Amino acid sequence: MRGDLDRVLFDEPAIHRRLDDMAAQISKNYRDRELTVIAVLNGSLMFMSDLLRRIPLPLKLDCLSVVSYHGKTQTNGEVIFKQVAFPDVVDRHILILDDILDSGHTLAAIREKLETAKPRSIQICVLLSKKKQRARYVDADYVGFEIEDEFVVGYGLDFMERYRNLPYIGVLRKELIAQPSG
Ligand code: IMP
Ligand code: MG
Repeated sequence: MRGDLDRVLFDEPAIHRRLDDMAAQISKNYRDRELTVIAVLNGSLMFMSDLLRRIPLPLKLDCLSVVSYHGKTQTNGEVIFKQVAFPDVVDRHILILDDILDSGHTLAAIREKLETAKPRSIQICVLLSKKKQRARYVDADYVGFEIEDEFVVGYGLDFMERYRNLPYIGVLRKELIAQPSG
């Protein structure tokens, strides 16, 4: 799988060092409030697991499942909520966790939907944020790394459901994205 990458952007130690800082910042900000984390599956699985184990607060955890990519590298803006039971967010302090902020469609749709359920507060935490003009404005409160507008995989991030289990994050070779049959 390593051969499918153009280059590695963040290896495991770099990711873990950054998670130490993010977890410290989140723990400090929520030290007096009961935190409810809502993780966006599947991309945030590794991130969620490694980040939450670094937060020594009595938090609650829920997950949301959305489809916004349909196996391609571009989102068409449509965000479908897959789970049957929507997490209970009324009156809670919500922290949304997602793998990457790209066009903004996904997190904007999630934030909008959660806001209708009247939480007390909402913050957003992403591992990666692409430096680009977004289709929808989203303000992430915690960002692991800012990256260029390139397609990345690994550490939860996929291309057509592959590469999620890579322990590091890298840029996928462009010619692999061009061949849909992979
Ligand atoms: P957005 O709605 O365009 O912000 O995209 C958010 C979702 O698209 C993320 O949660 C990812 O699942 C997926 N995505 C966006 N960019 C990448 C990438 O570079 N690699 C893998 N998945 C990506
Ligand atoms: Mg995702």
